[in-house]
Amino acid sequence: MKKYLMLVAIAVGFLAGIVLVNYLVGRRESFVQPIDFSHAVHAGKYKIPCMACHQGVMMRASAGIPNIEVCGACHSTPMKKTPQELLVYKYVSQHKQIPWYSIYHVPDYVYFSHRRHVLLGKLDCKLCHGDMAALTSPPKTQFLQIKMQNCWNCHVKHGVTTDCSHCHR
Ligand code: HEC
Ligand code: HEC
Ligand code: HEC
Ligand code: HEC
Ligand code: HEC
Repeated sequence: MKKYLMLVAIAVGFLAGIVLVNYLVGRRESFVQPIDFSHAVHAGKYKIPCMACHQGVMMRASAGIPNIEVCGACHSTPMKKTPQELLVYKYVSQHKQIPWYSIYHVPDYVYFSHRRHVLLGKLDCKLCHGDMAALTSPPKTQFLQIKMQNCWNCHVKHGVTTDCSHCHR
């Protein structure tokens, strides 16, 4: 009986350990963006085109996160002086880049090109990134998860190649 209780205690302890480790790892992966950037204000209310800020989408593999030179076109003087806006102004006036955290990444062994999908494939950003223009804060999770199955399914749907070597070069 004692031996049995001991085994139960060990098992419970082990499970609690896993839960704790998951909690700590999960916490380490969470992040806070340096500025509470609103796509709803810029792409929604003021209708600034996505490509004005993500300048690579038509020409390059990577869409790119805008640098302070892009923000500075409008934020080189404070407008309404809200706390978040003053923060952008501070980065711009001190010539310091904003250390954005990016949530969309393919692993190094995968080739993905925005030019191919947006310019040649004429696909809407929404299919992969959701309705960005409605977001009042930076996204925390991927809309269409970057998983091989998700790339594959859309390729099958559009009659595009599923040859391994095209995505894994
Ligand atoms: C084409 C002009 C333009 C560009 C480029 C631009 N913004 Fe703005 N931004 C605005 C306008 C206009 C407002 C004021 C919105 C309002 O208060 O109604 C604003 C407001 C803001 C605010 C304050 C919103 C709030 O809720 O207080 C932040 C933060 C901000 N912008 C960040 C940025 C960053 C970061 C960049 C560069 C990546 C950038 N903006 C580029 C036009 C621009
Ligand atoms: C077919 C799906 C798909 C479409 C359509 C798409 N994207 Fe992406 N996007 C991705 C993937 C996958 C990544 C990760 C790419 C990487 O790691 O190189 C990504 C990454 C990004 C990033 C992160 C930074 C970077 O440089 O890559 C931005 C910003 C972005 N996309 C903006 C856009 C915009 C704006 C559009 C529309 C004009 C768009 N995307 C259309 C799938 C898509
Ligand atoms: C005024 C500049 C500006 C405009 C216009 C803009 N964005 Fe962004 N975008 C940013 C900034 C700054 C970030 C980084 C902060 C964040 O995640 O919100 C970002 C982040 C993103 C990301 C997340 C990238 C990642 O890897 O975390 C996607 C996807 C994206 N934008 C898509 C779009 C789409 C689609 C549009 C048009 C509907 C658009 N953006 C319009 C400035 C802009
Ligand atoms: C349309 C693009 C695409 C095609 C085609 C494709 N892959 Fe992938 N593959 C990906 C992406 C994106 C990832 C990374 C995300 C993930 O792990 O799901 C990946 C990941 C992988 C991984 C690593 C999985 C893991 O769990 O670490 C292997 C192995 C792989 N692919 C093999 C293949 C083989 C074999 C083929 C051909 C039968 C193939 N892929 C075709 C896009 C593709
Ligand atoms: C929403 C649909 C969709 C998703 C999701 C998607 N693709 Fe595609 N992909 C397309 C279409 C459509 C084309 C053909 C574009 C053209 O007309 O050239 C294409 C073309 C490609 C090509 C060029 C194929 C060739 O003929 O050489 C590669 C490589 C590729 N995609 C990789 C990826 C990877 C990697 C992912 C996932 C991270 C992905 N795609 C997700 C629709 C999609």
